[in-house]
Amino acid sequence: MSSNALDMSADPMQKAREDRDLAVPRLRPYQGLVTSHQTRQRNRSESMQFEMGIIGVGWCGGIRAITAADNPQISKLHICDIKPDRLQEVVKLSKPASFTTDYREILANPAVKMVMISTTPEQTHYPICKDALLAGKHVLIEKPIAHQRHEADELIALAEKKGLVLSVGYSQRFNPRVAYIKKAIEDGTLGEPVTALSSRNIGADLGSRIQGRTKLSLAAMEATHDLDFLLWCLAPRKPIRVYSQIASKRQKDGSIPDHQWTMVTLDDGTTITVGAGAIMPPGHPQYCQTYMQIIGTEGTLTIYDDRSEVTLNTLKHGIRYPMSTMPGEFVGHVFEGPMATETNYFIDCVARGKPVLVKPVEARLVMEVYVAADISAERNEPVTLPRND
Ligand SMILES: NC(=O)c1ccc[n+]([C@@H]2O[C@H](COP(=O)([O-])OP(=O)(O)OC[C@H]3O[C@@H](n4cnc5c(N)ncnc54)[C@H](O)[C@@H]3O)[C@@H](O)[C@H]2O)c1
Repeated sequence: MSSNALDMSADPMQKAREDRDLAVPRLRPYQGLVTSHQTRQRNRSESMQFEMGIIGVGWCGGIRAITAADNPQISKLHICDIKPDRLQEVVKLSKPASFTTDYREILANPAVKMVMISTTPEQTHYPICKDALLAGKHVLIEKPIAHQRHEADELIALAEKKGLVLSVGYSQRFNPRVAYIKKAIEDGTLGEPVTALSSRNIGADLGSRIQGRTKLSLAAMEATHDLDFLLWCLAPRKPIRVYSQIASKRQKDGSIPDHQWTMVTLDDGTTITVGAGAIMPPGHPQYCQTYMQIIGTEGTLTIYDDRSEVTLNTLKHGIRYPMSTMPGEFVGHVFEGPMATETNYFIDCVARGKPVLVKPVEARLVMEVYVAADISAERNEPVTLPRND
């Protein structure tokens, strides 16, 4: 039978249905994030409420507190900050069951099942996280998981030993643009990935704030997000070589880096290039502008992520991009950005035993890469992974 004969015998309605199917992209829920309707119903009836604590309610902890306060899975919220003024501000916004300036009070409360740790400076992450795990709490810790690699190893081993959930706040994984990169790689739209680029630049105000409180590099504090999500999107490929350079021009003695570029080679030859800068003019308090480009054998994906589609121009401040921050913003009754989704997702993991999206060993791998980047920049030569020095 000729193909023409086949066409003649075809059901025209079937053809119309096929055309429609081609025109309308199939809805493919990302496995692990979306469950079936039946599973959702069953899980809902099985879901349990629990009490949680938030330690450090500054910028990020404040977002998490307000989000958690509105989450029906949280029966009681307890918050802590060592700055009484900030604590009072967040008390007003999140109306917790209790508040304190001593986090050990939250950890001593047996009813508290889980804590989120959003403290600065970053050296506080390890000791507070360790105390929380020793007290038997599930933990979401903001990045970086710890300051030193041995500290991260200790926290991961402790969580495993005690059967506790530990995850790290890599909020960009909950940015729909980043999720789209993962989807386009996984479903083959881009073909075989060849190279991925992310250039992230934050405003000088935020840059000075971060560099004023920690000696961690721009790779560790900023590029860490891009390294995390690109390694996640490109897994199971593994990083084998890292080369990095730091530019420092504003400070004559070169003591404060303005920018750090890092190139990572994966074990199949795919390359990742990540730039992190901290000297952008003031586009908004905590302004962040990111350009991402993924090139594969079958296509490319380009994402410009600074929410510049929302531009505010006022006589007082000139042009501003009020939705450009990395964790996102509350806008009246809704939240624009990834941190509220991430907060609710982790609560759901603890409530229903759902696997976390960011495994602590993944954060540990990112740490290995940014530490290698810093060594590379210092030595002015590529560093091979795993390191044997
Ligand atoms: N995922 C993201 O998009 C994102 C964005 C910004 C910051 N971060 C990370 O989140 C963390 C918090 O950053 P931030 O900008 O919210 O910082 P922040 O300085 O605004 O808030 C930190 C708060 O921790 C409090 N604190 C310090 N020690 C404490 C202690 N022992 N007990 C209780 N409270 C204590 C401080 O008083 C402060 O209010 C940082 O580690 C940062 O790297 C993540």
